[in-house]
Amino acid sequence: MQTLQTTSLRVVDNRLWILDQQALPARSDWLAVDSVDELVACIQALKVRGAPLIGLSASLLLALLAQRETQREELEKGLETLRASRPTAVNLMNNLDRMRLALAADNYRDALMREALALVDEDRQLCDRIASAGSELVTPGSRLLTHCNTGGLATAGVGTALGVITHAWRQGKVQQVWVDETRPLLQGGRLTAWELGELGVPYRLICDSMAASLMAKGEVDAVWVGADRIAANGDVANKIGTYGLAVLARWHKIPFYVAAPRTTLDPDCPDGAAIPVEQRAAAEVTGVAGSFGSVRWAPEQAAVYNPAFDVTPAALISGWVLDSGVITPQDVANGALR
Ligand code: MRU
Repeated sequence: MQTLQTTSLRVVDNRLWILDQQALPARSDWLAVDSVDELVACIQALKVRGAPLIGLSASLLLALLAQRETQREELEKGLETLRASRPTAVNLMNNLDRMRLALAADNYRDALMREALALVDEDRQLCDRIASAGSELVTPGSRLLTHCNTGGLATAGVGTALGVITHAWRQGKVQQVWVDETRPLLQGGRLTAWELGELGVPYRLICDSMAASLMAKGEVDAVWVGADRIAANGDVANKIGTYGLAVLARWHKIPFYVAAPRTTLDPDCPDGAAIPVEQRAAAEVTGVAGSFGSVRWAPEQAAVYNPAFDVTPAALISGWVLDSGVITPQDVANGALR
């Protein structure tokens, strides 16, 4: 197949490479991934992360394994193993549903490759459409706050919420971005700060707990976040801390927008209560670890609560910016996401 390159995925000579998002920004390490087990380990360690990217990497790996004479039964097993690698982001399941259809075709090796490449190409286009629809909502001189990482690293294109922000910045409408560091795994402090820096977008990094006082001072004009799953009633699962921001935004009368591609929609999921939320290891909260080394500060036996995501109720969301355009609370009430 031809060479493929996105910000964080590469295919060269029928081999998948991923940019290790745990090593960034200290190092840009590209890791070769040659098996389902290797990719599952990378996904679970968040070396590959972000809702769209998880689904795309899984689809590409299956397509590449099929080119290496891997048999249909083994590919089916691999598909199910990948599907179970992380539970919350529905893009993985949505992408793999399409890959499963391709796997059922007579010429499944070609069909899988065609489908994986189509998914990557579509994701690029979905990001562009989200960016242009969302930037219409950004008013000149805006100071925007974002959480986690929703940029090129997390997608095959310009990103979702971060794609909106960078597009609006290019249009001259963004004065500054407030970047939540996003504990416990610091996707904001490590990845969003790195991406914005590379693009030259002015940003300031804050601890998550600083958002409230910034809003109280009138320093935030809108909040933009991505999503891992959007239920039929508009409830949104996203990185832990998102719900708190939505509550703060409502109190301070600041618009709170969610940007996501159609692959993040789960019309079969009635509401946020039905979204499975991943629980992660205690070590992520008892200290920090990364390319910078590791430190533990909590007592050895500290009990920990560490959900990777939370659910923001639809009632706190000002608009859902999808590739098809902006969905309003009224649209959602009328069943636009069902
Ligand atoms: O645990 P992560 O880093 O995979 O969580 C990512 C997020 O919560 C993002 O906001 C979401 O996947 C959207 S990425 C375009």
